[in-house]
Amino acid sequence: MDSADQFRFTHLPHPAPVPAARRTELLANPGFGRVFTDHMAVVRYKEGQGWHNPTIEARAPIPLDPAAAVLHYAQEIFEGMKAYRAADGGVVMFRPDANARRFYQSAERMAMAPVPDALFLAAVRELVRVDRDWIPTGENASLYLRPFMIASEAFLGVKPSSEYLFIVIASPVGSYFSGGAVSVWVSEDYTRAAVGGTGAAKCGGNYAASLLAQREAKTHGCDQVLFLDAVEHRWVEEMGGMNIFFVLDDGSLVTPPLGGTILPGITRDAILTLARDRGLTVREEPYSIDQCYADAASGRLKEAFACGTAAVVTPIGRLCGHRGEVVIGSGNGADPITESLRGALIGIQRGQNPDPYGWVQHVA
Ligand code: PLP
Ligand code: COI
Repeated sequence: MDSADQFRFTHLPHPAPVPAARRTELLANPGFGRVFTDHMAVVRYKEGQGWHNPTIEARAPIPLDPAAAVLHYAQEIFEGMKAYRAADGGVVMFRPDANARRFYQSAERMAMAPVPDALFLAAVRELVRVDRDWIPTGENASLYLRPFMIASEAFLGVKPSSEYLFIVIASPVGSYFSGGAVSVWVSEDYTRAAVGGTGAAKCGGNYAASLLAQREAKTHGCDQVLFLDAVEHRWVEEMGGMNIFFVLDDGSLVTPPLGGTILPGITRDAILTLARDRGLTVREEPYSIDQCYADAASGRLKEAFACGTAAVVTPIGRLCGHRGEVVIGSGNGADPITESLRGALIGIQRGQNPDPYGWVQHVA
C-alpha cells in the first residue's frame, strides 16, 4: 500500500444512526464521556504490512482475541483533544498536530508501532467531519476526541505486539468538573511516575495506577489527587489527569518542570506562552509541597489551577492531605489571573479570539 492509500478512509456509514431528535436531547446535557457519536475511525497495523484498511465505520464493540496483548500486558496509549463549533459555522480544533506528536512519542515509549502524524490527523479529521452534527454548542461544551491504540496480537509471550488497532471515538462533552473551584488531595502514600518510567507517556497504565490514590482523594471529600515525586515525596508533580500551576503574590507563575515523570500537557504549554505574552513571569521549576503549604498559609500563594484538555483551566480552592487543609486564594474560584488565562485560552480554542500562534485549525 502506498502512502496516499494509507490515508484514504473507506466510509461505511452507520446503518441506523441516532435519530436527530434523540441526538439533540443527548447534546443538551452530555456530561463527560458517557455519550458517543455514531461512528469511529479504525486503522489496523500488522508487521510486514504496515498501517492499512483505514475506515470510518459504525461505532461498535471491537472483536478482540482473549489472548490479545493489551488485555495482559497493557500495551495501550491514548490521546484527548477537542473539536469546537466556530462562530462561522465551521469546526475548529486546538493544536491537533501536538496531540499527533505526543501520540507518536507515547507509542515509541511503549514499543508500539507509531502512527504517522498525517494518518493520526486524517483519522481525527475524517471522524469529526462525519459526526459533525454531534458537536454541542453550549458555552463549555465541545466534541471530545479519544484516539487510542491497543496491542491486538494474540500471544502470551511478553514482547511488543506485532499487530495493533488504532481507533478514534468521539464524545460530546460538557465540563469535566461540575463547576467552581476544585479541592485537591495530596497523595503521600502513592506515586504516579518515577524517572525512567512511563510518566511522560499517555498510556492507560498510568491512569490505572492513579485510581487508588484518586479514590483516596474522594474518600477525603476531594475532587482530584495531586502526586509528589517518587524519590523524595517532596516535589509537586501533577494531578491524576491534569497539570498544575501556582500563582504567587508577585504575580508570577510556577509550574513543575517536565523531566520524564510528568505528562507534557498541550494546555500547559499554551498557558506558558499565554502567560509570558501577558508579561507575567513564569518559572518551570520544582515547587515543594512544604513550600506550597507555607505559601498558602502566609498568603504568598494567591491562586492555583489545574489545566488539561478535559479540565481546560480549573481553579483549585483547597489543598488537603496528611499535613492538614489550606484554602488557596479566594477558595471559591474567583481568582483573577486564573480567570484571565482561562478566558484567553478558551477564546482562542473556540475561534472567538485572534490566534497569533497558529494553534487553531479548521477541520470542517
Ligand atoms: N497530565 C495528565 C496526567 C493528563 O492526563 C492530562 C490530560 O491529558 C494532562 C496532564 C494535560 O494534558 P493536555 O493539556 O495535553 O490535555
Ligand atoms: C484529557 O484531558 O484529555 C485527559 O486525558 C484527562 C482525563 C481526565 C480525561
